[in-house]
Amino acid sequence: MTDFRLLALRHPYILYTISFVIIILTRYIVQMLWSSRKNKFPVAGLTAIVTGGSQGLGLSLATQLAAKGANVVIVAQDTVKLRKAQAEIEAAGVKPSDMEQKQRFLNLSYDLRNPESAKKIVERVTSWNDGRAPDLLFCCAGNCHPSFFADASLDTHRGQMDTIYWSSMYMAHAILNLWKEPSSSDNDRNNNGTGKKIALPTRHIVFTCSTLAFLPVAGYSPYSPAKAAMRAMADGLNQEVAVYNGSRQGKGPSPDADINVHIVFPMGIISPGFENENRLKPELTRKLEEDDTPQQPDDVAKITLKRLEAGDYIITTSFVGHLMRGAGMGGSLRGGVVDVFWNWLGSIVVLFVVPDFINKCRAWGKQRGVHSTTGGKTD
Ligand SMILES: *[C@@H]1O[C@H](CO)[C@@H](O)[C@H](O)[C@H]1NC(C)=O
Ligand SMILES: *[C@@H]1O[C@H](CO)[C@@H](O)[C@H](O)[C@H]1NC(C)=O
Ligand SMILES: *[C@@H]1O[C@H](CO)[C@@H](O)[C@H](O)[C@H]1NC(C)=O
Repeated sequence: MTDFRLLALRHPYILYTISFVIIILTRYIVQMLWSSRKNKFPVAGLTAIVTGGSQGLGLSLATQLAAKGANVVIVAQDTVKLRKAQAEIEAAGVKPSDMEQKQRFLNLSYDLRNPESAKKIVERVTSWNDGRAPDLLFCCAGNCHPSFFADASLDTHRGQMDTIYWSSMYMAHAILNLWKEPSSSDNDRNNNGTGKKIALPTRHIVFTCSTLAFLPVAGYSPYSPAKAAMRAMADGLNQEVAVYNGSRQGKGPSPDADINVHIVFPMGIISPGFENENRLKPELTRKLEEDDTPQQPDDVAKITLKRLEAGDYIITTSFVGHLMRGAGMGGSLRGGVVDVFWNWLGSIVVLFVVPDFINKCRAWGKQRGVHSTTGGKTD
């Protein structure tokens, strides 16, 4: 004690530093407790578009959004699956007596790889929604074609970029261009001729990425680059929408609502797509990821909505997912000091995991030869 006092007297800046750290930490904790109480992703009465909403994670998200009172539009290609999915989503809706306005549902069949589709979807949903822009966009469309880089045809490589990157990019582009412009009907309705801006609920884009964007694994070479491109798009957009949000605090024309961007990085999800993926997957790839347990789409959707409600930008859905996020965080926006911890822990884990993968690949080649990388279940 005396030693410490002596030290503090001689070096008062130590006291300053300690008090400073305590003040910052207290502020941080108070802020965390305070803000964690507020739902930053209310959906009741809002309209959500979910691409890839006829199965897997998209369907789970659509169903849970319906259960929370959102109007839900699902987009996919297969009309049979779409109808079945919509019936399921409607059944999950809130009881009409509990809603101010009747909840509405729509299913649209479009090929999202076509750049024209996104514009048409956004227009159709807006007119279906009585001229009001949709509030939420979930980009869940996309399949996974596992393969070694050289084994996949050029068409497969391009196809992955089309279904994963371009389908999300077209949708985000169409909706941002709609959201950016003040809509006259919304403006009239909201400022009542006073010229004063009254906020509509925040609008959100949610991208569905993959932990493979953080840490690619051998045998996912047509897939990981498309997800990495999506992640780079989200990181850039997350900065750009700050301009639109900022314009709402200025005097000039501005969007009707704030815009927020999020990106989810699930690992394996058990779904029809996953079964197909496993059929194609090289045996070595299955061996490399044998320790990861795939998650149920309902669980991933539940975690995703919970983290959206907490206001997260980057969302991972499992412990290994958090580690990979930590390792691959790069220049993405941090969610707070906790992310520094994951960054540190993830970096240590990667120190061992990636050399281990490389060793396993080398041993595989030595044992089975150069033609041992093609897919198909052998068991
Ligand atoms: C899905 O959309 C089709 C075509 O618009 C429509 O006929 C059908 O009723 C919708 N499905 C459900 C379950 O509402
Ligand atoms: C909107 O304006 C009209 C007349 O200009 C007024 O009667 C009405 O109360 C206003 N509504 C709101 C919500 O301010
Ligand atoms: C945009 O606005 C929303 C809602 O106010 C806010 O949560 C979000 O952080 C803002 N995003 C940026 C990048 O400014």
